[in-house]
Amino acid sequence: MQLSLNNKKIIISAGASGIGWETAKNCLSKGAIVYICDISSKSIKKIQKHPLIKKKLFTYECDASDEYEVSDFFNQVYKKTKKIDALINNVGVAGPTGNIEKLNSDDWERTLKINVVSHFYFTKLAIPMLKKNKGGSIINISSTAGTMGFALRSPYAASKWALIGLTKTLAIELGKFKIRVNAVCPGTVKGDRMARVIRDKAKFLKVSKKVIENDFLSMSSINSWISQADIANVCSFLISNESIKISGQVIPVDGNTIRFD
Ligand SMILES: NC(=O)c1ccc[n+]([C@@H]2O[C@H](COP(=O)([O-])OP(=O)(O)OC[C@H]3O[C@@H](n4cnc5c(N)ncnc54)[C@H](O)[C@@H]3O)[C@@H](O)[C@H]2O)c1
Repeated sequence: MQLSLNNKKIIISAGASGIGWETAKNCLSKGAIVYICDISSKSIKKIQKHPLIKKKLFTYECDASDEYEVSDFFNQVYKKTKKIDALINNVGVAGPTGNIEKLNSDDWERTLKINVVSHFYFTKLAIPMLKKNKGGSIINISSTAGTMGFALRSPYAASKWALIGLTKTLAIELGKFKIRVNAVCPGTVKGDRMARVIRDKAKFLKVSKKVIENDFLSMSSINSWISQADIANVCSFLISNESIKISGQVIPVDGNTIRFD
């Protein structure tokens, strides 16, 4: 079955690279119109050359953790469309690695601000546009770290658990408007982010990167990397009409994580 997202309008935070960009490409290939914001002008410039674009992709530079910039981003999207079908709250940083007594409060607060408070800014402004559309889909990108403890990454785990609470609560508040809200929890995704996480953990524990990489892989029963496309496919499904009765759910895309530490 080939899903159709024909003319569905989708906002993605931090969509110019990584999982967000893979999801944008997936949605574009299914006929959607995509509005991306990202803090990196370099990444935005890079994707503007992509052949899939053809007036269906709009890109904006914006720090998702700055309420004024997010508001300006929405004002610009609003000039193009008054209604949207979906919001993907994708922005999220890895945060610091270390035992909690060694972490500083600036890093803690910054992780929570980007990974949780940003989602509040986007969701608040997206809801009127979803209501105008008479329904739609909000996807919060959480993590396996939002379903289990994650040693040495306390602010990240706390932020990703917070998104589960946000998802469950919003699903109740917005159900009567036919707005569905789900959380997608990626596992160990192949890409730049995990390369950085493995490097930092190896440095902290004074072991080789290979040891950490093998340990991450052994944490899921399928024992392999998750791809960005695996996450994108699930997001497209959650936006499509095929998932119209799915809301308030926490959906791991992690090859069945059996431990996470
Ligand atoms: N990669 C993984 O293994 C993994 C696993 C679980 C969950 N996740 C979650 O998936 C989401 C995407 O992860 P990723 O690996 O693609 O991330 P990434 O680190 O590759 O970054 C993706 C994009 O975020 C942008 N960005 C960073 N801070 C921003 C800000 N303040 N405002 C706007 N844009 C900003 C970057 O410029 C970049 O283009 C995150 O929420 C992450 O926590 C990722």
